[in-house]
Amino acid sequence: MLELAIILPTLNERGNLASLVERIDGALGPMLGDGGWEVLIVDDDSRDGTADEARALALTDRRVRVIQRIGRRGLASAAMEGFCATAAPFAAVMDADHQHDPALLPKMLAALKAGEAEVCVASRFAEGASTANWADPEREKLSGLANRVARALTGVDLTDPMSGYFMLPTATARAMVPRLSGIGFKILLDLLATSDRPLRVKEFPLDFAARREGTSKLDRAILFDFLAGLYDRTMGRLVPTRFALFGTVGALGVIVHFAVLSALLLVFEEGFTLAQGAAVLVAMSFNFWLNNYLTYRDQRLKGWGAVLRGWLGFCGTCAIGGFANVAVATLLESQGLFWAFAALAGILVGSVWNYALSSRFVWGR
Ligand code: GDD
Ligand code: MN
Repeated sequence: MLELAIILPTLNERGNLASLVERIDGALGPMLGDGGWEVLIVDDDSRDGTADEARALALTDRRVRVIQRIGRRGLASAAMEGFCATAAPFAAVMDADHQHDPALLPKMLAALKAGEAEVCVASRFAEGASTANWADPEREKLSGLANRVARALTGVDLTDPMSGYFMLPTATARAMVPRLSGIGFKILLDLLATSDRPLRVKEFPLDFAARREGTSKLDRAILFDFLAGLYDRTMGRLVPTRFALFGTVGALGVIVHFAVLSALLLVFEEGFTLAQGAAVLVAMSFNFWLNNYLTYRDQRLKGWGAVLRGWLGFCGTCAIGGFANVAVATLLESQGLFWAFAALAGILVGSVWNYALSSRFVWGR
């Protein structure tokens, strides 16, 4: 009987899949036999043909399944998709790049089945763990603070709250999916913090290996993840996290606009129209860059072609949003609304419009 699903979110991991399935088989075979586990590859339409490779594996190995998502991105949402797509009572999430040792899988499963824990987490920082192949001193420094914030959020003491390797009953995860944010890479933290009560966690020391093929897709803006998570927990229902980020970036863009405008006016006193035009262009580009860097961090456009296309799309979106902004403000002002309120209403309508269009056409892929 099917007991365990191993969810492998993938983005350009073609060269890692076959050997990883083999290692998982080696680790789980003795405990579960052939029908007891399945690998669920959730691929976000990787350019290197990861989904094709996954399908090729699935053709001859019925324990391998594939979900290819088109037009969606994100490690957390890929994991959520996996929880919802398996019949296995237990599910694990792990990196597809060999950094996470499959040898922990049977131990975690045994602990869950014995009721020793409700969530099992592989930790890079627990007693006995090693990250010998992984030089990142900054992460070590930050981890003290990060762990304290994580404890406040989840009520659970963890040495590695950002771990991407964990196992839990699938039903537990599924029950929380509608309430998870799906933003960023902090899926474990998100699960633990979303639970109504602190979950009982057992940690397993992990020998964090070097990735075999390809390159890392994540950056280490851990602090950002925490702040976004904190916001999401408190204000997220009122104003969605991504929209809040988008709005904050927009507000910073206004500051940039005025800085550029006043600088240009100092130099060219007569050229207001030109200066205003230049300020709009600089502010728009700044907003595009910062949104790509922060707001859409989990689906960032990379490479010259993609960035150029994204930038052009963003400028087009802003032009439409700007038009809506002016139209609404003019209408309201002509109806007798105080000019500042009319302007604010225009800005709000324009931003919602910009947000809707750019999330769909610029970062939606
Ligand atoms: N489907 C999908 N969509 N998969 C993704 C995406 C995405 O947008 N981004 C990354 N992945 C996959 C990668 O292909 C890999 O299998 C796994 O998610 C983790 O990505 P890595 O690129 O290997 O991340 P890392 O090794 O740098 O980061 C590690 O540390 C983080 C915490 O600091 C991982 O263990 C993360 O899971 C962990 O959160
Ligand atoms: Mn990795």
